[in-house]
Amino acid sequence: MPSLKADSEQIEICADLLENGSLVVFPTETVYGLGADATNGQSVAAIYAAKQRPEFNPLICHVADLDAAMAIGDFNTSALQLAKAFWPGPLTLVVPRHKDCPVVPLASAGLDTLAIRVPAHPIAQALLRAFGKPIVAPSANISGQLSPTNCQHVLKSFPDLPVLDGGTTQVGLESTIIGCLEAGVIWLRAGGLSRQDIEQVISDPLIEIEADSDSEPRLAPGRLARHYAPNARLELNCKTIPPENLLLAFGAIDFSHPSALINLSPSEDLQEAAANLFSALHQLDGLAQAGQTISVMPIPNSGLGEAINDRLTRAANS
Ligand code: TXA
Ligand code: MG
Repeated sequence: MPSLKADSEQIEICADLLENGSLVVFPTETVYGLGADATNGQSVAAIYAAKQRPEFNPLICHVADLDAAMAIGDFNTSALQLAKAFWPGPLTLVVPRHKDCPVVPLASAGLDTLAIRVPAHPIAQALLRAFGKPIVAPSANISGQLSPTNCQHVLKSFPDLPVLDGGTTQVGLESTIIGCLEAGVIWLRAGGLSRQDIEQVISDPLIEIEADSDSEPRLAPGRLARHYAPNARLELNCKTIPPENLLLAFGAIDFSHPSALINLSPSEDLQEAAANLFSALHQLDGLAQAGQTISVMPIPNSGLGEAINDRLTRAANS
């Protein structure tokens, strides 16, 4: 599919595509983003499938303005200072999720924090306003490739997706990511906004998170991002299920199970299973009595199954 001229008609068409669950690529002032409706689990799962990354990385929610951001996240004083100083612009803030936040858990990989950004690019702004809901968007490249700063880059990874053409992006680097959490103001990723700019606005010192052993140590705030873990014990690849265990099922079930059960996808659809994964874990964990185990049925390791199994393995080992 050729790139689309980003006039108001195409922007409306792209907003409708998002509404219908499809993915749309759009320019921001940093890099092009692979966008999906942040409130639609299947669409968010489709992003992970398209990126071909074998794990679920939490995604950035894009919104049109600070009001829209405050409807999905809780902003403390530092967050407000930074948002007012630098939005719209190349800054992402990680804040606690708002209690009524409609963004699906898969978008933030089950975390209770959310990365939020108000992009300045006029096409991104127009799309957000036409769509009227948060759009999650990682950089529009297949995992392991460079972030795209023009349509040609995007089309190398995604030749078949609609791409709103905004020419070459101005900043060319991803957004700077800052956590504004109870622990303080945390420097998570270097990007289009400098450390000095940030430090001029906040009254607290910036907290450094040590680089860990991730492949992108500086870029991936893995430490913070990997906190989600259920309290209940998880047993993976269970073929026989003790009746007293809670059950995270996958596929058709031809037996009755006396304890609580959630089926990730009765039809063995891995995209549906991914969309349901984190909310199912949260729900079962909430139901689990002290010492009760969650049995997880085997899930194939192909496609999105790899990321699902990666998450379940981490959850089981935590
Ligand atoms: O400039 C940008 O930020 C671009 C444009 C499209 O907005 N987006 C982008 O997204 O770079 P992505 O998915 O490539 O990088 C998002 C980063 C990841 O490193 C992820 O770990 C971090 O944001 N992140 C997202 N949610 C988080 C959270 N709740 N806590 C900590 N880190 C988070
Ligand atoms: Mg990226």
